[in-house]
Amino acid sequence: MMKFSLAGIAVAALMAGTITTTTAQDTTGYQVDRQTMMAQVGAATRILAGMARGEAPYEAGAATNGLRVYQAVAAAWPYMFPDGTETGNETEAAPTIWSDRDGFIASANKFEADTAAALETAGDGLEAFQAAFGAAAANCRSCHEDYRISRE
Ligand code: HEC
Repeated sequence: MMKFSLAGIAVAALMAGTITTTTAQDTTGYQVDRQTMMAQVGAATRILAGMARGEAPYEAGAATNGLRVYQAVAAAWPYMFPDGTETGNETEAAPTIWSDRDGFIASANKFEADTAAALETAGDGLEAFQAAFGAAAANCRSCHEDYRISRE
């Protein structure tokens, strides 16, 4: 009996959590999620770049794991900018994402395609990884130049 009501409280808490999340999503959720996703891309990049520069030993598993973070974010990226999320929560999303939607989606799709291609060879030794990583990481700057505003 005790166990049952505890479970009931847990379910109620879970539902309350869901409702809170949904409400937050209406205002600042997408901006926060975008920043979290890109922060993960940034963290993966520090590991990948360290290996590419020879500052850390090359490891095939770490190379492919980092690129999988890119791939997951790239696949979801076009869906993270619905109307109404142009501003708020110090977003660095540039207005061009909404005014040039096709170009932005193409940029995200290119990041995903280049990452998928990089994953094919990133596990084949340091030199193959360096080339693969370079091609995938070139997307950071090209997209940021067109679709991210600098807050400095
Ligand atoms: C297709 C476009 C695109 C690509 C490719 C891209 N980014 Fe971004 N990035 C953005 C946008 C847009 C933002 C701003 C998001 C916001 O604030 O809502 C951003 C924000 C960031 C941030 C700031 C996150 C924070 O804490 O607010 C970092 C770090 C970052 N990107 C790193 C990278 C790296 C590293 C790569 C390449 C491996 C990359 N990005 C590739 C579009 C892109």
